[in-house]
Amino acid sequence: MGPHLGTHHVMNITYSDRIPNNVDLASDKMLQRALEHWQPQFLDWWREMGPEGSAGFDVYLRTAVSVDRAGWAQFGYVKMPDYRWGIFLNPIEPDRKIGFGAHRGEAAWQEVPGEYRSNLRRIIVTQADTEPASVEQQRHLGLTCPSMYDLRNLFQVNVEEGRHLWAMAYLLHRYFGRDGREEAEALLGRRSGDADHPRILGAFNETTPDWLSFFMFTFFTDRDGKFQLSALAESAFDPLARTTRFMLTEEGHHMFVGRNGVRRIIDRTAEVMVLEKTEDPERLRALGVIDLQTIQRYLNFHSSVTVDLFGSDLSSNAATFYTTGLKGRFREEHIADDHALKDATYPILEVANGELGGKDAPALNALNERLRDDFIRDSIAGVDAWNSVLQKHGVSFRLKVPHKAFNRKIGPLAGISVSPQGQIVSAAEWEANVRQWLPTERDREFVQSLMGRVVTPGKFANWISPPASGINGQPVECDYVRFD
Ligand SMILES: [Fe+2]
Ligand SMILES: [Fe+2]
Repeated sequence: MGPHLGTHHVMNITYSDRIPNNVDLASDKMLQRALEHWQPQFLDWWREMGPEGSAGFDVYLRTAVSVDRAGWAQFGYVKMPDYRWGIFLNPIEPDRKIGFGAHRGEAAWQEVPGEYRSNLRRIIVTQADTEPASVEQQRHLGLTCPSMYDLRNLFQVNVEEGRHLWAMAYLLHRYFGRDGREEAEALLGRRSGDADHPRILGAFNETTPDWLSFFMFTFFTDRDGKFQLSALAESAFDPLARTTRFMLTEEGHHMFVGRNGVRRIIDRTAEVMVLEKTEDPERLRALGVIDLQTIQRYLNFHSSVTVDLFGSDLSSNAATFYTTGLKGRFREEHIADDHALKDATYPILEVANGELGGKDAPALNALNERLRDDFIRDSIAGVDAWNSVLQKHGVSFRLKVPHKAFNRKIGPLAGISVSPQGQIVSAAEWEANVRQWLPTERDREFVQSLMGRVVTPGKFANWISPPASGINGQPVECDYVRFD
């Protein structure tokens, strides 16, 4: 039995609108025209860089048609180029006050203050650039999906990243005039991994060549998204706060895809380990499952690359963004302090006598480090949940989030070699051990060798367990993607 086809709910958007929205686009003709000009460029980009070969597929997708409980998750079959990339902001909160920085207690801004214009634009462009980047990084994965269920989840993530790009492009067009229009066009001009026109941030120029990478990416790098968006959700610039609050609801699903994807891989490996009474990685590879050591190396790679996204541990930009009210802390209102960080300190890492140790730094300058620590705590909780799968199977191996100084490319830690356990090592020790710590060419080739296309409803590749349940109450064996 397939899902029902009731997709034509009429909510508080008009389906005849070319750009579904809850920002009353119709009343601003200039803005509407600007976005209608950007839309075909977006579609060109999607056709060129979106999921490969998917244009004719009917996919069982969740579409946001409004921000209320009933409207933000409408399910039905959609051809992806026809997906309604709407513009939705959380409803305005009357009398919202700024929660931190020098403007604390003042009314949140509905327009961009002139003196903060370039910093705000830079913050929005940096966030916006990650959205199309991840679509580009993931565009070949549909060709090697481990199941129809997973293929559908990949496409769901892709269209929502496309919608996030729309949300950011709206802010640029609406609030930043000509500069904003140029930035919105430039977002469609850069390409992940391109030598001449790369995406802005390092992790978004890495490839996502296989499904273990994809699940690790959605676990770690979409979690970076959660923490960046949470910090922007505190912004004094109210339209940015409202936009990112709505984006966070979708980010939750992306992390679910990663968390459950890796959990199902671990579950399958552990099942075979017990069945065949072996812990030998080579034997497990021969049996067609991914050994836990390889999973750990992928974890180390994606964790460290993502940890770098938070930037340098001490940053005067971060201090400025906070003091001027542009970017807050994770759950700002739950923190019991002066929300100005005048004399506060925060511990950062430094090397003393050949060892890593803590050192107090001005909290205002250490905000990147604080957000990074919040992120790492959240990652550790997710990895603990994976370990409980191993425990349930009676397997003693445990996965571990590497030390935050491991494999860093940004900040003062970039110059030193640190083991996943947090010990400073010599260049020779690094060389001798790096094949145990980070994925090798051989690991990547092995994982790649498992990637085949499984699209029979209810069937799963050998190296991954089926999910506990399907999407939106549908059975696991539902035909989530209909090919033409
Ligand atoms: Fe996103
Ligand atoms: Fe995401």
